[in-house]
Amino acid sequence: MELPWNDPRSNKFVTTVGLITSEGVDGPNIMAYEWTHISYNPRLIAVSLGHTKATVENMRNSKEFGINLCAKDQSILSSIAGEYSGSKYNKIEAIKELGFEFIQANKIKTLMVKYAALNAEFKLFQEITFGDHIMFIEVIDATQNSEKQPLVYHDGKY
Ligand SMILES: Cc1cc2nc3c(=O)[nH]c(=O)nc-3n(C[C@H](O)[C@H](O)[C@H](O)COP(=O)(O)O)c2cc1C
Repeated sequence: MELPWNDPRSNKFVTTVGLITSEGVDGPNIMAYEWTHISYNPRLIAVSLGHTKATVENMRNSKEFGINLCAKDQSILSSIAGEYSGSKYNKIEAIKELGFEFIQANKIKTLMVKYAALNAEFKLFQEITFGDHIMFIEVIDATQNSEKQPLVYHDGKY
C-alpha cells in the first residue's frame, strides 16, 4: 500500500523543516527535508531521502553533511531548496542572491545556513534503505540559535 507525498493522510503530519547542506562534485548543495530524532545518547538523528536526490550522492561521497533547522523567517529557503535539484541548479548562489548568508561549518567541509533555528554537523554513521527512501544517520556536534523559533510545516503549508 502506498502513502504518497501530498496525500491528505500524509498531510496530517506536522513537522519542522530542515535544510541539508552538503558538498559534492557540482559544488555546495542544499535540500529541504523532514527529520526524525532517534537517540539522545549517542546523539543520533535520521534523515530519509529519495534515491534520486543530488544530496544522496554528496552524502555518500563526502560522508558528512550539515543539518540546518529552518527558522520562521526562512521559509523561502525551504521553497528553493525543496523545489529544485542541485544536479541542475546552483541553489546556494540563488539563495545568496536573495540576501541569505552561509557560514563554514566547524568540523566538516560544508556550508551552514546562518541564523537557522539550529545548526548541527554530521558524519555519516549508517545508511539503511527502506522502500523508496534511504535513511542516513548520525550527529557529531550541535549548536543552537536560541533567538530563532523553528519553522513548522503542515498540510503543504509553512
Ligand atoms: C518542506 C519540504 C520537505 C521535504 N522533505 C523531504 C524529505 O524528507 N526527503 C526527501 O527525499 N525529499 C524531501 N523534500 C523534497 C526535496 O527537498 C527536493 O526533492 C529537492 O529538490 C532535492 O534536492 P537535491 O536533488 O538538490 O538533493 C522536501 C521538500 C520540502 C519543500
